[in-house]
Amino acid sequence: MSSAKIRVALVGLEFGAEFAPIYLHHPDVERLIICDLDDSRVQHVGDRFDVAARTTDLDAILRSDEWDAVHLVTPVTMHAAHTLAVLEAGKHCTCTIPMALEIEDLRGIIATQRRVGKNYMMMETAVYTREFLYVNELYKQGAFGRLTFLRGAHLQDMEGWPDYWRGFPPHKHITHALAPLLALTGTRATKVHCIGSGQLREELQRPYNNPFPLETAIFRLAVCRRERSFGLRERSAVVWVRCPAGAACPRRASGGRKRSRMHATRSGCTRPLLLR
Ligand SMILES: NC(=O)c1ccc[n+]([C@@H]2O[C@H](COP(=O)([O-])OP(=O)(O)OC[C@H]3O[C@@H](n4cnc5c(N)ncnc54)[C@H](O)[C@@H]3O)[C@@H](O)[C@H]2O)c1
Repeated sequence: MSSAKIRVALVGLEFGAEFAPIYLHHPDVERLIICDLDDSRVQHVGDRFDVAARTTDLDAILRSDEWDAVHLVTPVTMHAAHTLAVLEAGKHCTCTIPMALEIEDLRGIIATQRRVGKNYMMMETAVYTREFLYVNELYKQGAFGRLTFLRGAHLQDMEGWPDYWRGFPPHKHITHALAPLLALTGTRATKVHCIGSGQLREELQRPYNNPFPLETAIFRLAVCRRERSFGLRERSAVVWVRCPAGAACPRRASGGRKRSRMHATRSGCTRPLLLR
């Protein structure tokens, strides 16, 4: 994105209303429009934060050239369709958690983002909490030493929430528990084993065909980038190191192996090194 200021549309004004003052005071935001299907909510939020541009029509925002980016804070069941519509309209998109509910939708969003070349961001709020920022600072200072195990949890009583949360499978809503751990260590999950436990009331099982009020998972994480800066050697991680020009290169010297094209550079060579 260029350094020019952007014009933002904020869509879904229940939890989403919290973001109106943030955009209004952000130095890189030129204009804000607020949108909700419920006009009384639009007027209430518009009056409260003094936002002039208001609408109940998301499609009109998508058709207009006046807006560069759309922030979606609509119900979870709509995230995938709304995100695809925003990206297809040629606008940057950010969406509250979760990104989508089905694997095909996640893949569809990634493919669309790559094709249209606009930015996409999932708005995980847990990594901006005081608690996370404090622990993150301690970790950066090396206060925890070498990490062996991380654990995250997110417990929430969803009684009385909007209907689409009734019987919601816990791990479709995992980001608050997992994202802080991944952000802290600068890594990603590569494998997961998940089990459900407990039993939801009969009527809560139907909407998502899910019997579990609780799900627990164990994740394997990819190489932890930050650990390396504390001197930890990851097993079998391949890194590329540069041999100084003229220096004896162990790879070149080893048993008549063919020189790779990288070894032919005049300034020196680059060789893969297997750390153990
Ligand atoms: N900490 C967090 O990250 C956090 C906290 C709360 C909620 N959320 C997320 O925010 C989303 C919304 O949560 P909520 O509690 O505000 O939900 P909600 O259902 O109470 O509110 C959603 C709002 O979106 C509006 N809406 C729906 N379809 C629309 C459309 N096509 N165009 C314009 N407006 C539309 C609705 O009228 C409603 O006002 C959820 O996905 C939830 O996961 C995240």
